[in-house]
Amino acid sequence: MLSRLILASTLLYTFVFSPTTTRANDAIVEITSSGVLVHHASEESQQSARPSFALVEPLEITGRFLDDSQVNVVFGQSGDRWTASIETSPGTSLYGTGEVAGQLERTGRTVETWNTDAYGYMDDDRSLYTSHPWVLAVRADGTAYGVLADTTDRCEIDLTDGITFRAVGPPQPVYVLQGDSPQDVVRQLGTLTGTITMPPKWAIGYHQCRYSYDPATRVEEIAREFRDRDIPADVIWMDIDYMDGYRCFTFDPEDFPSPADLNKKLLDQGFRNVWMIDPGIKLEQGYSIYDQGEAADVWVKTADKTTTFEGEVWPGMCVFPDYTNAAVRQWWADLYEPFMAHGISGVWNDMNEPAVFNTPTKTMPESNWHRADQTLGGPDTHARYHNVYGMLMVQATREGVMKANPDNRPFVLSRANFMGGHRYAATWTGDNSADWYHLDVSIPMTLNLGLSGQPFTGPDIGGFAGNGEPELFARWIGFGALLPFSRGHTAKGNIDKEPWAFGPEIEATSRRALERRYRLIPHLYTLFREASLTGMPVARPAFFADPTDQALRTEDDAFLLGEGLLVVAQIQPARDRLVVLPKPIEGVEWRAFDFPSFDGGRDSKDPDQPALYLKPGTILPTGPVMEFVDEKPLDPVTLIINLDADGRARGTLYEDAGEGWGYREGDFLQTTYSAARTGDIVRVWVAATEGNRPRPDRALRVRLLHPDGKEIVDTGIDGKRLHIQLP
Ligand code: GLC
Repeated sequence: MLSRLILASTLLYTFVFSPTTTRANDAIVEITSSGVLVHHASEESQQSARPSFALVEPLEITGRFLDDSQVNVVFGQSGDRWTASIETSPGTSLYGTGEVAGQLERTGRTVETWNTDAYGYMDDDRSLYTSHPWVLAVRADGTAYGVLADTTDRCEIDLTDGITFRAVGPPQPVYVLQGDSPQDVVRQLGTLTGTITMPPKWAIGYHQCRYSYDPATRVEEIAREFRDRDIPADVIWMDIDYMDGYRCFTFDPEDFPSPADLNKKLLDQGFRNVWMIDPGIKLEQGYSIYDQGEAADVWVKTADKTTTFEGEVWPGMCVFPDYTNAAVRQWWADLYEPFMAHGISGVWNDMNEPAVFNTPTKTMPESNWHRADQTLGGPDTHARYHNVYGMLMVQATREGVMKANPDNRPFVLSRANFMGGHRYAATWTGDNSADWYHLDVSIPMTLNLGLSGQPFTGPDIGGFAGNGEPELFARWIGFGALLPFSRGHTAKGNIDKEPWAFGPEIEATSRRALERRYRLIPHLYTLFREASLTGMPVARPAFFADPTDQALRTEDDAFLLGEGLLVVAQIQPARDRLVVLPKPIEGVEWRAFDFPSFDGGRDSKDPDQPALYLKPGTILPTGPVMEFVDEKPLDPVTLIINLDADGRARGTLYEDAGEGWGYREGDFLQTTYSAARTGDIVRVWVAATEGNRPRPDRALRVRLLHPDGKEIVDTGIDGKRLHIQLP
């Protein structure tokens, strides 16, 4: 069965679809492969560049198709599997492939798309929780292309000799996205698969989780500790023990007698909340969700197509909603209205690979039967729908959350997902362990997810499985505080892992790390805006600074936040890393800078904090430390500036209400700041503004990084030109 291209409702263009190679410029498309890989351009990506891509159809299985992007896709057959191969030129580095353990550069590695509950995963695990049949190739000269295999089937991505996709069944098409740079290709991917919706601002703050804070009074205690100790945080999470016997959409009457009261108490202290919901529904007559689902006949069936599949998860024997069916998704979405009414801010969907305990494969049998929508490809086996089970679940969850709280931006976190599913949910890198290996892979995993379309992600800071030593925690929170999704979490039975749990020294380290995040929230929020418009990841690999620089291609321990801020993490225990920095630009260095911390000192005295560097020509907007986002107005706006060789710099700050949809009607303020040196005067001014939101009356502070390592600080009024006299 060949892929079909369906024009999305927003599409204004049509193009003819030839049986071999199709180039479709200026088109936003909805792809359905075997009917399943359904992509919509997001509500927010209209302003982004149109993708330039070639669709290569495998009509003649041994044919060799050359499109004008000079990327040859060769289809073939190997045993019972079809293959699509691309020969790469010498010096090409490969990335992406979604959520993968191990190093950043994926050249030489083989993985398989098959969503898997991968507790304590290691480098040689072929499949983790989410699937992205996507490879980003960066050629020696820094030009790039991306290849997307349009299949939801279990698919091997073999990068040992060029790029090869292999899967059982009828051959599927691949898309080739061609660009001048990796950034260009990633943006095109954003247009092709859609982008994230702007998250609520609180979701960009720090999150504190554990399996589980229980009872409710313990949750209150955690919240109070954060505020008493002046450690910034925005969200506290409720893992499964809040439920009554792990029955989804219920609350333990003794431990969580009034979730609404708890959420209110949290909100009074500036905390939002996230509560978990799993797909496994306890098989138990009298449990209302089970009874409703049974009456509506919503469960996944076994191979005989009529018997309901039963599998064991946390509550014991469970049944599983068949999210491939629109009526079931609607039923699932509707469950959220009464649930959210308890004052719930966000939802965590877990175990949705789906994880099943009592099967050898840790998931349901591939022969299980889904009564899928015709638009997704119609009824078929679990083998075909396995990789999108989690994505379709969070699609429904998000719809339900939005219906319950239409005025709020939804926040959903999902463990399983699929290419394009970033439009429905953020993700985290699953059940890692409290060891140096998992600390080490946190950054490359986050980066490869970003390069695969998912910008909102990060690891369990401190490690999920096991305890780990204090130094490990300190290092982890040092850079984890600067990743797009920043959440501490740990498993049942482990020691406490809140920022204060390891004693005063590590508490101070954690506070410094989180204060840095909150100072950078104005910048991070601006980057989330960019991600929502164009698909550019929030955290980007160091080689984005110079895609022609081979030395940066394997830099695993540094990442860029946006274009101009480089974060160099401290990874190994007690040693300063030798990191590859981007080359100076026309003689101007990427300059190190820091923030003064709460205890008066510079953070750089703390070896657990990553080093921060600013690219020549950059203006970085930062704000004051807050206990939670928007605790206070952004005042002063502090611009940190590194002038380029011509004495110029630029930077952007995006602001809006932090919640709700007003920004879509223009209720935002986007400021482009400029700086230029003439003689010994540096002028700083607002070069452009967008949006209808008035500029608040507030102070402007400028920190000009100076070649001699000192900085020049001056203050003025935001929106008014500032003249800084150089010494
Ligand atoms: C899974 C999740 C983990 C969670 C646990 C209990 O292992 O990955 O984050 O804490 O289930 O719900």
